[in-house]
Amino acid sequence: MKLMRSIGTLSCIWLVMAISAIAQSSNDSLPAVLDTTGQALERGVEYYIKPAITDNGGRFTLINRNDSCPLYVGLENVSGLDGFPVTFTPFVEEETVIRENRDTKVVFSAETTCVQSTAWKLDERDPETERRLIVTGEIVVDEENQSWRRAGNYFKLRKADVGDNIYNIEWCPTEVCPFCRFICGTAGGLIENGKRLLALDGSVLPVVFERA
Ligand SMILES: *[C@@H]1O[C@H](CO)[C@@H](O)[C@H](O)[C@H]1NC(C)=O
Ligand SMILES: *[C@@H]1O[C@H](CO)[C@@H](O)[C@H](O)[C@H]1NC(C)=O
Ligand SMILES: *[C@@H]1O[C@H](CO)[C@@H](O)[C@H](O)[C@H]1NC(C)=O
Ligand SMILES: *[C@@H]1O[C@H](CO)[C@@H](O)[C@H](O)[C@H]1NC(C)=O
Repeated sequence: MKLMRSIGTLSCIWLVMAISAIAQSSNDSLPAVLDTTGQALERGVEYYIKPAITDNGGRFTLINRNDSCPLYVGLENVSGLDGFPVTFTPFVEEETVIRENRDTKVVFSAETTCVQSTAWKLDERDPETERRLIVTGEIVVDEENQSWRRAGNYFKLRKADVGDNIYNIEWCPTEVCPFCRFICGTAGGLIENGKRLLALDGSVLPVVFERA
């Protein structure tokens, strides 16, 4: 009887150790997202985002879709020096490096005349194209127990299948809300009236990150 109990206690300790080992390593084992020079992307540092293939437009920028606020996330028409850099803020507060497949906020470093923040936000599904655009604005949540509502402000960077330091931008904020069931999506270009907008649910636009 006594032996049985101590085995039970022992295996319980083992289980706890195994779980904490998984929890610990799960953060560090995910590779850092790398910029065009192979350096890890860091929290709060400015980067330009641009298509891995230059035919697909220029740097990421704010698009005035329809002479009104809010501004949308999109691309310059041609590659060049225009566009606005972004900063990344990982959902996990103590994390200083941007890692693959982890939730991060993305904010343009830009002054605009719109009242909205320049944080990226998932928009409603566009009735015409059935695609979800990326707009700007901050989701403000007063009650801490409603933090899952902020999910619309969090994106993930996933390594593309081909090429070095090339990534896809996804919306699937499972760290912000582990119990939510999202209709996840990958971002690509959507041309509307000659303007290059960023949208989920269609073509995929692989991108690279260039330190500003
Ligand atoms: C790993 O992430 C969890 C929450 O996601 C956090 O509580 C923990 O401190 C992190 N550990 C390390 C080593 O960063
Ligand atoms: C732009 O605004 C006009 C007038 O409000 C509206 O009729 C039109 O559908 C809008 N276009 C887009 C692409 O949102
Ligand atoms: C791209 O070209 C279209 C059509 O000429 C124009 O409306 C739009 O503002 C341009 N985009 C940028 C980011 O300058
Ligand atoms: C969230 O917290 C507020 C106050 O802290 C409380 O009044 C409310 O009932 C809570 N809601 C849920 C769904 O737990």
